[in-house]
Amino acid sequence: MTAEAERGPSRGLQYCGEGRQGEQVGLPLMHTSANLQVSGEAIYNDDIVDPPDTLHAALVMSEKPHARITVDFSAAAAAPGVEGCFGAKDIPAAGDNSIGAVVHDEEIFATEKVTCVGQIIGIVVADTKAHADEAALLVAVDYEELPAVLSIEDAIEADSFFDYDGFTGHVLGCGDVEAGFEQCDHVVEGEVRCGGQEHFYLEPCACVVTPGEDDEMTTIVSTQCPDKSQRLIASALGIPCSKVVAKSKRIGGGFGGKETRAAFLNVAAAVAAYHCRRPVRLVLDRHVDMAITGQRHAFLGKYKAGCTTEGKILALKIALYNNAGNSLDLSQSIMDRALFHADSSYKIPNVEVTGHVCRTNMPSHTAFRGFGGPQTVLLAEMWVERLADTAGMPVEQFREINMVREGDVTHYGMQLVGCQARACWDKLSGNLSARRAEADAFNASNRWRKRGIALTPVKFGISFTATFLNQAGALVHIYRDGTVRVAHGGIEMGQGLHTKMIQVAATVLGIPTDAVFIAETSTDTVPNSSPTAASASSDLYGMAVLLAAKQLEERLRPVREKLGPEAAFREITEAAYFQQIDLCAHGFYKTPDIFMDWDAAKEGVPQLPFNYFCYGAALSEVEIDCLTGDMMLRRADICMDVGESLNPAIDVGQVEGGFIQGMGWLTMEE
Ligand code: HPA
Ligand code: CA
Repeated sequence: MTAEAERGPSRGLQYCGEGRQGEQVGLPLMHTSANLQVSGEAIYNDDIVDPPDTLHAALVMSEKPHARITVDFSAAAAAPGVEGCFGAKDIPAAGDNSIGAVVHDEEIFATEKVTCVGQIIGIVVADTKAHADEAALLVAVDYEELPAVLSIEDAIEADSFFDYDGFTGHVLGCGDVEAGFEQCDHVVEGEVRCGGQEHFYLEPCACVVTPGEDDEMTTIVSTQCPDKSQRLIASALGIPCSKVVAKSKRIGGGFGGKETRAAFLNVAAAVAAYHCRRPVRLVLDRHVDMAITGQRHAFLGKYKAGCTTEGKILALKIALYNNAGNSLDLSQSIMDRALFHADSSYKIPNVEVTGHVCRTNMPSHTAFRGFGGPQTVLLAEMWVERLADTAGMPVEQFREINMVREGDVTHYGMQLVGCQARACWDKLSGNLSARRAEADAFNASNRWRKRGIALTPVKFGISFTATFLNQAGALVHIYRDGTVRVAHGGIEMGQGLHTKMIQVAATVLGIPTDAVFIAETSTDTVPNSSPTAASASSDLYGMAVLLAAKQLEERLRPVREKLGPEAAFREITEAAYFQQIDLCAHGFYKTPDIFMDWDAAKEGVPQLPFNYFCYGAALSEVEIDCLTGDMMLRRADICMDVGESLNPAIDVGQVEGGFIQGMGWLTMEE
């Protein structure tokens, strides 16, 4: 049989728990907009029909990684259809051209210098997108090139690190690494690197900004964080946040790529809309989006790790470097998450991890699914393999010996409660030896095709590592006809958040899920929302929706009791209305107890950055063609502990999607 034929169609089997009797939460409900998405009826930003006076925008972007610039818009301004060209000089006097995700270390429009290819220099608006695109190419940018730092290695060589407010890099550790190494029988030292990854969400970044009367601004934006658009548009234009509304019905994927970078594009479009007093639409072409919006952070780890002859890891010292690009964006938080996950799933008594955020002349790299976690876990599994080899032990045995258990304490002093690491591992490890023997036999009888099998664990901390971000709001309205409209601060990006939130509201109110509707996410219904990120949104918004719905359930309870068990929800709500009961409630939730103080952590004071960990394991078997490099995943088994799943159909999809996206990162990207 040829390899092609043997492959056959790919297939999948999914197993999950059954949820709780009689509750909507826990049921494998289909994604509420699945039918609209597959039929093409679901509305994304570029599907919105323009008001007739809408202008179309194109960006003027740097073509050099590092240069002094002079810009002349005159040829573009005279081009057909052009209604305006805007740059740094057009930021209103009350506004601010400086901008940033955490610290304002970027410019909306470059002034004297550009520090990466793709940096925004200006924006051109015209009657059609084609006219805007043509005119943007006519903007004359004169570059006086300067030396560029591109890679992590370049940055180390040039001593180019982010250093703001006297900050000199975060450190985490426990025990005494030097004393630990002295007790080791085997020590390995080396370097591992992993490259970046393009987000490749199906919908490129897109926004429409519509000015209203007296400085009001409304934007529809493909973002994971409307709050960032609202605040940055307000700051750029020098207007209050109360006059800016940012909203999104759904976005076509985000994966971290729209956590911050979407807002910078949104602000550029807002400046044009502000001056033209007309709606401005900016939709990036795919190649532009890929070139300018940043990627997953590439990492370099310089490690030293040691163990005993019995294979017990005693000490780890690792210096982590990430390629942040030309601005800080979220690079420090991404490094922080990397530092927290440097232990992967292993108990290590003596640890010292340092994080160095490299400033380079690349487009600012940003959040990407896992947020520094996958990078450092990959680096860890590399030194773990080397150490196991050096100790002369099968790597799975080595992993088992060192795997975290209930009650273990991490290198930042957090105790593991409800540790499922070994449980997930044991679900998959049973037939590993038999499968490996089969692969070995295959390899012995095939010269050019080779198979390999690996089983790896994962442990991932759930919460934003910047503690204050762990807050969420929701607003629940009940109408007299017994239908319910929920608004919360989270963005639907295909991950099924709205579906889960509908299940939560329906469960609390004791009604079917089709009586609950979520239309959009908007800063005028729920303010100050954190980005939909950090694998935390179902938890955070789920609790906020639950708390809002509970208030309503309590207000309705006397009416329900009076009308009796046979009363339909609509009768209850109608009766409640006539009794002048408020049928609207706001819920607010913050993750309790967690804290993180980097200065105290440096002194060895135990920290509690995460609400909990989730655990998993994956067993993959691959086959490669040694002549062509062709690679095939023969089979993957994944066990993931998601706690009590709110919706197993969606969670299984998320696990599968995450696996495939990770596989793309590690086999096809940089
Ligand atoms: N994890 C993932 N995404 C994030 C985080 C985090 O800690 N902070 C901001 N976005
Ligand atoms: Ca960055």
